[in-house]
Amino acid sequence: MKLLFIGDVVGSPGRNMLKEYLKKLQSKYRPDVTIVNGENAAAGKGITEKVYHEIKEAGANVITLGNHSWDKKEIFEFIDDKHDMIRPGNFPEGNPGTGITYKQVGSQTIAVISLQGRTFMPPIDCPFRKADELIAEASEKTKHILVDFHAEATSEKQAMGWYLDGRASAVVGTHTHVQTADNRILPEGTGFITDVGMTGPYDGILGVDKEAVIHKFLTNLPTRFEVTKGREQLNGVFISLNKQTGNAESIKRIVINDDQPFFD
Ligand code: FE2
Repeated sequence: MKLLFIGDVVGSPGRNMLKEYLKKLQSKYRPDVTIVNGENAAAGKGITEKVYHEIKEAGANVITLGNHSWDKKEIFEFIDDKHDMIRPGNFPEGNPGTGITYKQVGSQTIAVISLQGRTFMPPIDCPFRKADELIAEASEKTKHILVDFHAEATSEKQAMGWYLDGRASAVVGTHTHVQTADNRILPEGTGFITDVGMTGPYDGILGVDKEAVIHKFLTNLPTRFEVTKGREQLNGVFISLNKQTGNAESIKRIVINDDQPFFD
């Protein structure tokens, strides 16, 4: 089982990169399933139905969300119809959508789980206990389980990796938009990376116009943050899982930008 995971797509620059490179990456790596974090895909905050279709047409099989899940109000109109798009499973009981989805690949099944951290983030339900619950559910159907842990603190993300070692095939961090170089396979077989990185502007600050962010740091005045234009980047990971055990056999970082161009 081979998985391609693309880090947080930010606005139209992120969608441009998906359209330009996702099919090329799929030809190169031949993933069985492609997962894209799309929580910043509509103008940097949330997702619309049109953007959902754009990401799917670019080649995504599953879309994961995060703390910006509800930022575009129209999501409430369509989230319950889209079984291949998930929001963090530890959102309060009764929220629309779900935190787990399954994809069939030939005779195999992959479960994709979304969870959100609580350190420097809204005080939602415990992601660790929700992980226990969702992994117990998924384990009845498959050994192939990927967790997108959308969290701010590197410590919380590393804790989730170790907590799920041997129970999830892979735990990949999202949300902080800067790819970390700590991709590894933990001792019990879980592929891990603290953060996959983002897909969108290359010369902004986490995808936002850099002048606005610097202005905010200098003045602390209310500042409007917009997705910046210009050069673009894509960040992702490619993960191979053992067919029998579901354990990760490799987790490789993918970086595409002007300093590290794509070669097929
Ligand atoms: Fe986020």
